[in-house]
Amino acid sequence: MLIKRSIDQFDIPLSSEITPRAVFESRRDFIKQIAAGSMATTALLEMASREVFAQNVGLQKLTAKTNPSYTVPDKTTPYKDATSYNNFYEFGTDKTDPAENAKTLKTRPWSVTIEGEVKKPMTLDIDALTRLAPLEERIYRLRCVEGWSMVIPWVGYSLSELIRKVEPTSNAKFVEFISLADKAQMPGVRSSVLNWPYVEGLRLDEANHPLTLLTLGMYGQILPNQSGAPVRVMVPWKYGFKSAKSIVKIRFVKEQPRTAWNQAAPGEYGFYSNVNPEVDHPRWSQASERRIGEDGFLAKKRKTLMFNGYNDVASLYTGMNLQKFF
Ligand code: MTE
Repeated sequence: MLIKRSIDQFDIPLSSEITPRAVFESRRDFIKQIAAGSMATTALLEMASREVFAQNVGLQKLTAKTNPSYTVPDKTTPYKDATSYNNFYEFGTDKTDPAENAKTLKTRPWSVTIEGEVKKPMTLDIDALTRLAPLEERIYRLRCVEGWSMVIPWVGYSLSELIRKVEPTSNAKFVEFISLADKAQMPGVRSSVLNWPYVEGLRLDEANHPLTLLTLGMYGQILPNQSGAPVRVMVPWKYGFKSAKSIVKIRFVKEQPRTAWNQAAPGEYGFYSNVNPEVDHPRWSQASERRIGEDGFLAKKRKTLMFNGYNDVASLYTGMNLQKFF
């Protein structure tokens, strides 16, 4: 991003059940399967390397069945690329800053307050939020407004599950997502690159669309800090900046929220920000994209798809001029 100036059945080990249990159990399964000769060598090797990585980063497992209805057939971006090339300005503006600097983010204990135009406001601790609905794995494309994309197996559930529980009033027209902004933990918050906290928003019907994912994990583990731990949203038909990370508050409001990027550069980052190859960013084309991890800088770019390929959402915008409401 640039501005002009320059669960049980789903096997959910929670925080109280510390990492070694998950590591231990999967290692035990792994050994059993070797003994039974039931796995192909490549699968074993793949699992072994994932296991080593999980131990290295020390993240808890957060596994869930893949939901084929919400999965794209594209090749998944390697974990190391998805977690070392990030936008998370609270930790710096370079792509490698979040992986380096987000280690200081304390993600437990963590709670999320849901307030505003709802009949049942609540504050949920991260474990309660994780258990609120059955988790699913969904492989989504993420298209950044800067012209790159990734394909990530996220773990979470439709945000609509949470919305249902808090019972929005008839005044609720939009949902606002507010990220943590703590100077002590987030060095980027000391800079004035954005108005903190990072705020994003959706229309209520967009937030209720089943594709909108309240995201608690990726690649079968809880979210790594640089990816927005412990909870973020993923709105796959919109540019990546609509998917706020490390959320502490979700507010239901009457008016369209003033979002961080829209405030920073209103002519460049609209409220809707649906992926649209026909609407250029004022300073570059949005017609094509570079797939991180798969394509080198010299590789041919791929064509960007309308709504990032999620055509089901078109009905949310019937009759709207998408050049105007970009
Ligand atoms: N959320 C917060 N709080 N701060 C940020 O800087 N960057 C956004 C979005 N969510 C951002 C954020 C942008 S520009 C993108 S493209 C995606 O997160 C990137 O997500 P990723 O790093 O997991 O790929």
